[in-house]
Amino acid sequence: MKDRFTIREAKKADFNEIFNIQKSAYKKFSETKEAIESRLKLSDKTCFVAFSKKEIIGYLLAHPWKANSIPAFNSVLPALPDNADSFYIHDLAILKKNRKAGIGEALINKGLDCAVRLDFIRINLLAINDYAKNFYKKLCFKVKRITDKNSITNLIAYGENAEYMQLDL
Ligand SMILES: CC(C)(COP(=O)(O)OP(=O)(O)OC[C@H]1O[C@@H](n2cnc3c(N)ncnc32)[C@H](O)[C@@H]1OP(=O)(O)O)[C@@H](O)C(=O)NCCC(=O)NCCS
Repeated sequence: MKDRFTIREAKKADFNEIFNIQKSAYKKFSETKEAIESRLKLSDKTCFVAFSKKEIIGYLLAHPWKANSIPAFNSVLPALPDNADSFYIHDLAILKKNRKAGIGEALINKGLDCAVRLDFIRINLLAINDYAKNFYKKLCFKVKRITDKNSITNLIAYGENAEYMQLDL
């Protein structure tokens, strides 16, 4: 039987574990500590961790952002936009040994509840490969074409298969 897990808001003290999960999930495509930490600092109430037996086994990092706009890969976010109209999921990753147990879906649902509570009408994210794209499609996200030039450049930096996706709430 798979281990039970609990989800709660992320805290400062979780940072090292979040960073290590990120490094193991993305290897050479992982982001710097500064890039990850800036999301948590600016918007910790929209970031969540899943844990089991006191170990963090997955996380979801999200923050308010502008729809149809993609932050640059591995960038430190200096501030959140005043006129944010999208709940942007920057990253979702689960420890390899804990995948396929519903934790990713549960974290997305936690983000969804949070987005609704904050009155957002959409959630956006990047799916970086076909597996992630199908995972999000099953959760009713749809691929959305981006037209803003900077965002297209930023999207390409995530790899040739990366796609911008949206869930209307
Ligand atoms: C993408 C990712 C976050 C999914 O997390 P996860 O916890 O494995 O997701 P879930 O368990 O909710 O769903 C994954 C699959 O397991 C299945 N599943 C869920 N609970 C299950 C259970 N109890 N038993 C068997 N299968 C189960 C789901 O139906 C789904 O099936 P699919 O592969 O056919 O789509 C995870 O693979 C990951 O961390 N990948 C590396 C980082 C990454 O790419 N993140 C996305 C960035 S865009």
